[in-house]
Amino acid sequence: MRVLVLGSGGREHALAWKLAQSPRLSALICAPGNPGTAALAENRPVIADRPDAVASLAREARVDLVVVGPEAPLVAGVADAVRATGIAVFGPDAAAARLEGSKAFAKEVMLASGVRTAAGRAFTSVPEAEAWARARGSVVVKADGLAAGKGVIVARGADEAVEAVRALSALGEAGRTLVLEEVLDGEEVSVIALCDGERYVLLPPAQDHKRLLDGDRGPNTGGMGAYCPAPVLDAAALARVGEEVIAPVLRTMAARGTPFRGALYAGLMVTPEGPAVLEFNVRFGDPEAQVQMLSLGEDLIPWLEACARGTLAPAPLALLPGASVGVVLASPGYPAAPVTGAPIWEADRIGGSCQVFHAGTTLRDRALVTAGGRVLTVCARGPTLAEARANAYGAVGRISFPGMQYRRDIGAKGLGTART
Ligand code: AMP
Ligand code: GLY
Repeated sequence: MRVLVLGSGGREHALAWKLAQSPRLSALICAPGNPGTAALAENRPVIADRPDAVASLAREARVDLVVVGPEAPLVAGVADAVRATGIAVFGPDAAAARLEGSKAFAKEVMLASGVRTAAGRAFTSVPEAEAWARARGSVVVKADGLAAGKGVIVARGADEAVEAVRALSALGEAGRTLVLEEVLDGEEVSVIALCDGERYVLLPPAQDHKRLLDGDRGPNTGGMGAYCPAPVLDAAALARVGEEVIAPVLRTMAARGTPFRGALYAGLMVTPEGPAVLEFNVRFGDPEAQVQMLSLGEDLIPWLEACARGTLAPAPLALLPGASVGVVLASPGYPAAPVTGAPIWEADRIGGSCQVFHAGTTLRDRALVTAGGRVLTVCARGPTLAEARANAYGAVGRISFPGMQYRRDIGAKGLGTART
């Protein structure tokens, strides 16, 4: 089978790494890919969120399956365009990708599906949103549209809430509608389901670390590291999330004539009353995918193909024993203003149980240099979470670039429980 992976981040490198091990694979193409995927696949240039460009590439490269990594191409209709050529695609059509592309739409689907979520409302009038925010005090303010991780503010107190409404309404198109909702407290966890429009299978629950600094302090980022399985959801609780969140949403989307085929990512807050949905994404997580791919104990291609073709036969995914941890190495100045162009040492010397997935890297005179905010995700497995952490941080200690930033506490949240 010839497979095209669309995207250029650590998530796409991890997907390519997993797909490259499949005995069913005859050719792997990444577009645009990165220096990490170049070692496993043929990298081809493409503007990933141009549906016609991606469909032409898929046809010209004679691929049998397209796997879409990031959300922007899905929201732009890349999956629709590829499907229209008769090529199978793992990723939802634009109509179903609205679950991530519009937070107001996602909220409406959650309510229609009876999914537990924070109480909230959508506003198109800034004065009305301000009045609601002032009356409620602490609220979470969300820009409706895609805002590259800058669209959510958790405001504590009325003044902060009103300020957040003003800030997000100034974002332009993405902030034309705002969703305001109650603040939930608890531990966050990401549940990702591979879906074929009707049925689903669940990846091991993962925990991302969104803040820049140890102890969940500092600004929000795209994600500074992840680990799985996250013990905050045991097997029974994970299965309940499948039944109470994923299944009803799939039913609602199918009943509306916009079935969801692809990775449905539920960002959950585990509250004392049970898990509540904070958001949906319509793709694998980054960096969650990096650790989930490391933990997967079987070929990924049959699952992705079955989802794309609507022929999924649900069964538990085979997982490798133990845990996986991934630590993101970021450029100085990330997330506000990353400074790039620095040489990266020793990233290509890591082996054994460790995998280094590339994101913001490029080759200059055949030397690897930094080229983005999140540069590498350094991943490792271990028989326990503690050992996986030790392996990952051991590898981190051997890689360097000037000003490298990373968190020292990835996975620490999962320690001290029976599962570790
Ligand atoms: P989102 O982009 O919707 O995932 O939101 C980004 C982050 O904002 C989440 O990972 C949470 O940390 C936080 N967040 C979103 N909604 C809520 C909520 N209702 N209560 C508390 N925190 C939230
Ligand atoms: N790790 C968060 C995300 O992929 O959206």
